[in-house]
Amino acid sequence: MVKTLVTAAMAAPSVADERPWHFIVIHDPAIKHQITAVHRFAYMAAQASVALLVCGDKRLEKQRGFWVQDCAAATENILIEAQQLGLGAVWLAVYPVEGLVQGFRRLLGIPEHVIPFGLVLVGHPAKQQKPVNRYDESRVHTDGWDNLWSNSARQPRRE
Ligand SMILES: Cc1cc2nc3c(=O)[nH]c(=O)nc-3n(C[C@H](O)[C@H](O)[C@H](O)COP(=O)(O)O)c2cc1C
Repeated sequence: MVKTLVTAAMAAPSVADERPWHFIVIHDPAIKHQITAVHRFAYMAAQASVALLVCGDKRLEKQRGFWVQDCAAATENILIEAQQLGLGAVWLAVYPVEGLVQGFRRLLGIPEHVIPFGLVLVGHPAKQQKPVNRYDESRVHTDGWDNLWSNSARQPRRE
């Protein structure tokens, strides 16, 4: 299952197909426990079956500055695949909080050119969450900022 998750991550789109990522798969209970000290919101890491740290490698970047978007797409793919597999997963931000970046760097021996981006904790869910619908039409604009989608559906677009 872990390999399936990482395969999904690596299927993500990236700028110029540069795939600037690395993934650190953490099974070791001692390291999962240490994560809770590095990242105070990651208190659930000790109970998680596995932790995946998504990292961006500056040396693999062809187009500067896009690694964050590439790693975000890979991270989202892990969440979607986890759902498909009947697992539960949560995304915890690391980058751009410098203390967290350095904390994970020290904990896992990550070199300077590689930036810890985000942590995904994966496990077997205690309960099934119902899907939520957060659709908010006030955030949808059509043919320009001034025309809300909700208005345009009811009245013709102002020319
Ligand atoms: C960049 C990022 C950081 C997040 N950090 C945390 C976190 O520290 N702790 C947590 O429980 N969830 C974290 N989440 C998950 C969000 O809180 C969650 O997606 C949001 O509350 C909506 O809930 P849902 O995804 O379960 O529907 C994070 C999500 C993102 C994208």
